[in-house]
Order: sequence, then structure tokens, then C-alpha cells
Amino acid sequence: MIKILVIILILFFFFFLPQKTEDMKWVNDENEVVVKKPFVIKEPIDSTPIEQVKNNVNTPTTNDWWKYPDVIYETKRNGNDLLVLVNKQYKLPSTYAPSDLVRASNSGIRRGENYYLRNILITDLTDMINSANSEGIDLSIVSGYRSYQTQVSTYNYWLSKNNNNVEYVDTFSARPGHSQHQLGTAIDFSSSEIGDVLGDSFSNTNASKWLIENAYKYGFVISYPKGYESVTGYKYESWHYRYIGKENALEMKNSGMILENYLRSKN
Ligand code: DAL
Ligand code: ZN
Repeated sequence: MIKILVIILILFFFFFLPQKTEDMKWVNDENEVVVKKPFVIKEPIDSTPIEQVKNNVNTPTTNDWWKYPDVIYETKRNGNDLLVLVNKQYKLPSTYAPSDLVRASNSGIRRGENYYLRNILITDLTDMINSANSEGIDLSIVSGYRSYQTQVSTYNYWLSKNNNNVEYVDTFSARPGHSQHQLGTAIDFSSSEIGDVLGDSFSNTNASKWLIENAYKYGFVISYPKGYESVTGYKYESWHYRYIGKENALEMKNSGMILENYLRSKN
């Protein structure tokens, strides 16, 4: 009888005594202690802010995708560098202009006489236009290089057209210094399929479908793809491509990254 009582008591202690918690356990080996690394925010090389964005006092500060960050830096790479990251956080100097601008028509693209692009991309653009044409695809250019001053006018134009609604304009037009068009490597495409207009209707053209499949082979990639507004800070632009060179474009495609993330990984 006593034996049975003792066994019951032992079982009782075994089941109902509190478990050791993690911090009650002994650490015998110092090497077993895991030191958690603090979360590190990657700082730009030069972390001097060059601009504090003045937000409209009536505008609540939220993390909405079209907003500019409070602090803006100068681009880490030079504007001539095909991999320079230019976005809402990183801005080109107002004085930056490419030194090898030529008429886009040197590539044979339709309407090219109206725009300038960097000479560095002309050979690949020529090949791309020839290839598209040979498959019955028509491509035209409706915007190319835009200087800092032109972007001032462009952004102000859209503001005046939209009742000075900064938040709305920021969803589709870059502020001066923040546009890839200042690089001379960005092209807005259109097509005879839509009468050479610039805009959303381009997404349904054969020209757009062809570019999605083939542009990377010639070094061109879409900058603001559909569904990535919260990453790029801009609405989908089916017409806006940027030249980063054939090798980089292939690497980017193989990585599965969109341009914004690819360039962030390189800057
Ligand atoms: N529409 C693009 C974002 C630009 O203004 O550069
Ligand atoms: Zn564009």
C-alpha cells in the first residue's frame, strides 16, 4: 500500500511540477549562447541628406506608395553609369546631363528626329527596331532624354493640369532630378497601332507584348511594371523602358527581380 502511495506521489510531481523555461536552463558551453545581431539599415555611402521633402502640412504622413521619403540623397553612382539608381529616394544633381546625346533617329526608330538619347544605346536600339520591324511590329518613340529643366516644366505641367494635386501627380510624374529620362537612357514607346499616343492604351498593343518578350535581349527593361507600385513608387507604365545593357538586362531577368530591386542590389 505504501509502495503504491509513493509511486502515485512520484507520478504527481513528475506531471505537475512546472517545466523549466528557456532562461532557467543551464548553458554549459559559452559557444552555445546565440547573440542576436541587431537589425542593420543599409546606409548610403554618403549619408548626407541633400533634401528634406516639404510635405504639405494638410497631408497626413503615411507610408503610401506614391510619397517621397522625408530624406533624399544624391545618387550613389554617376549619371553616366548604366546601373545608377534614380528613384524617389535618390536624385540626380540638377547639373547632370549625359555627354553623348545623339538623335534617336540614328537608330531608325520612328519619330526619332524629335528626341535625343545616349549614343551608348543606339546600336542595340537599332538591332531591336530592326528585329521588331521584321516581325511586323511597329515601334515609335514619344519621349527620350529630358533635361533637369525640362523635367521642371513637365512636372509643373502635370500639376497645372491636375489642380496642383501633388499626391496625384507623384503617382506618375517624377519630380526634377528623380526622372530616369534625365539619364538619356529611358524611352517612352508607342506604336502606329494607337496613333503614336503616349499612355495606358500601349499595354494592349502587339508592340507592348513584343517588348515584354524581347526588349531585354537588346538591353532594355521595363522600369515601372504592373503590380509593383509599392516598390517603384509609380503607377504601371507599359511604355517606359530603360537601357541597362544586354548583360545586365539578362542578369536581371535571370534574377527574377524588377529593375528597381535589381538596381538597389547594385547601388
Ligand atoms: N513617368 C516617369 C516616372 C517620369 O516622369 O520619369
Ligand atoms: Zn517615361
